[in-house]
Amino acid sequence: MAKFDYPSEHSLVSNIDFLSPDLFIGREVELSVLKQVLHGKKADLLSDDEKAIFNEKYGGIVQSVAHSKWVIQGDKGIGKSALAIEYITKFREEYDLIWWIPCSIEGSIVEGLRQLCQRLTEKEPENSGDSFPRELNTYLSEQNRWLLIYDGLNDQKLTKYLPSEINGHCLLTSTFFEWTDFGNVMPLSSISEKHAAELVRNFIKEEDSDLVNRFTKLLNRNPLGIRQAIDYTLLNEYKLKDYLESQIKGNIDYSL
Ligand SMILES: Nc1ncnc2c1ncn2[C@@H]1O[C@H](COP(=O)(O)OP(=O)(O)OP(=O)(O)O)[C@@H](O)[C@H]1O
Ligand SMILES: [Mg+2]
Repeated sequence: MAKFDYPSEHSLVSNIDFLSPDLFIGREVELSVLKQVLHGKKADLLSDDEKAIFNEKYGGIVQSVAHSKWVIQGDKGIGKSALAIEYITKFREEYDLIWWIPCSIEGSIVEGLRQLCQRLTEKEPENSGDSFPRELNTYLSEQNRWLLIYDGLNDQKLTKYLPSEINGHCLLTSTFFEWTDFGNVMPLSSISEKHAAELVRNFIKEEDSDLVNRFTKLLNRNPLGIRQAIDYTLLNEYKLKDYLESQIKGNIDYSL
């Protein structure tokens, strides 16, 4: 089987230079689920408690056979992209090619695929703009150690930009919740109380655990919500207590 044509000093062809910082927290269960559903390997790195959560939350979707395309589905800001980046960081050695395709608008998908085509074949795609480039289909069907991440693909119609034959892996992140035709969906929910508190304490020194827990609960333990509230708090030189009191009084003005 032909290998990707990459410079000899690199083992990976990729457009990603933002590997996950040390600040990524938790999601061990989800990372194991992803590893298992994509590679069909056992989630043997989990503790007994995590295994229980794994079975309870994801037992239904983890089958013995690996599938090559998955959607990480969840609310805005819940941490879908962060999880995908952490997955890449952890498991990049499983791949020869990792390509990140931003999908917020159709044009960015087309551009992402055009750049991939250029990188692999040194040519522009012939059929760019309405489907997955033919040249890439040919190229990728001969390989299997590749991963394409379609980040923020919230419109099911845009799956026309996925390769027709998937010998490698496709990972989508999406807020869309009715993936009826697509099949493999991994739902992502809020982070745990413990991890939410850890996220807060990475930025704010606060000893009072009860206060921290009330703060993250108010924000539904949504990482984006927590990050925004932390930024607001720091910017205004607030303490968490002030933030909670302001929320209760309803006088937070986010336009500041
Ligand atoms: N497990 C985590 N540990 C630390 N930070 C996290 C974690 N999950 C998410 N975050 C942070 O929360 C913010 C929102 O996460 P992210 O962008 O991944 O959400 P998303 O689900 O992809 O949102 P969207 O639907 O808008 O694309 C980011 O700043 C991210 O770094
Ligand atoms: Mg995202």
